[in-house]
Amino acid sequence: MKALVLCGGKGTRLRPLTYTLPKQLVPVANRPILHYVMDQIAGVGIEEVGVIIAPETGEYIKEALYLNPWGFHFTFILQEEPKGLAHAVKVAQGFLGDEPFLMYLGDNLIGETIVPFVEEFRAGDADAMILLKEVEDSRMFGVAEVDEGGRVRRLVEKPKEPPSNLALVGIYLFSAVIHDAISRIKPSWRGELEITDAIQQLLQEGRGVKSYVLKGWWLDTGKKDDLLAANQVVLDEWVKREVKGEVDAESRLSGRVSLAEGAQVIRSVVRGPAVVGQRTKIVDAFIGPYTSIGADCIIEGSAVEYTVILDGTRISGVGRLEDSVIGKGATVCVGAGNRGALRLMVGDDSEVIL
Ligand code: DAU
Repeated sequence: MKALVLCGGKGTRLRPLTYTLPKQLVPVANRPILHYVMDQIAGVGIEEVGVIIAPETGEYIKEALYLNPWGFHFTFILQEEPKGLAHAVKVAQGFLGDEPFLMYLGDNLIGETIVPFVEEFRAGDADAMILLKEVEDSRMFGVAEVDEGGRVRRLVEKPKEPPSNLALVGIYLFSAVIHDAISRIKPSWRGELEITDAIQQLLQEGRGVKSYVLKGWWLDTGKKDDLLAANQVVLDEWVKREVKGEVDAESRLSGRVSLAEGAQVIRSVVRGPAVVGQRTKIVDAFIGPYTSIGADCIIEGSAVEYTVILDGTRISGVGRLEDSVIGKGATVCVGAGNRGALRLMVGDDSEVIL
């Protein structure tokens, strides 16, 4: 079995972060989402991994996978335009050949192993298997109508009136017959070749399509609040206390704090779960739970909580910063002599709540 990981697309929902960073590389607990995806694929023993990339962001994706601690054999496949998930499979047909494959959207994060899902597919004779999750509002997802026996009856992409609250999580298993089904579908109202329509095509042809309902959490990290929630869950579940950086005598780390090499904590308190990246300096500050701070940042004279801060950022003299996502290389500081005025240089599509 091979794996196909989709890292194309435009990523408009997490703007402005995704102007400079593909959404698959947005960090959660200081690791790109894509690395969690690769952990899952390694966990089911797949070695051949095709990665769909876009012309604009492909090089960033390659760089993020360069160290390859999983020992995969990667094939990077360029999709010139984001014409849909089924279009991505079409572009990858040469790589996939006649083998069954696991398709994984590169920006999806789930809180449980996919091993039982993949095992069930390997042991059975279904042509497709989909992963579903109950959600409150399924209108922005692919949605499944399932009978009492768990058999999938119908699938619709982003319906105005959803037939159920079971959303398609972006993780699928297919036999090679999916290629035929894709050749028979037409672009949807949003102009994309939808994988949901291709699976619906399999259903209409009487092929076996199984479903598996995810019990743990699923975060489709599309928006700021989703990203903060994902960061919280991942810090809660996976962060261990690991202190590689330096902590001076006037500082205190409490709970599960991961402090990377070269990081310095000076006259400050860091309360876990929290992660601090390489060479970041925390001076006269309080870092509260559920905070991830990237590499090469300076946090001084500020209190920061439940926040994600990307690399190279400076936060200075800010009384209290909460529920925030701060992009790469940003500066948030309270300047002397501002006389209460705000002086801002805010990028496109940013959100500033005062
Ligand atoms: O997240 C789950 C949802 O993902 C499912 O419920 C939907 O059925 C499915 O269509 C998909 O919907 P989205 O509209 O959220 O997909 P998005 O455009 O965000 O793309 C998902 C991933 O696939 C993302 O990592 C980018 C990548 N992609 C997307 C397109 C359209 C590609 O690599 N190529 C593409 O052409």
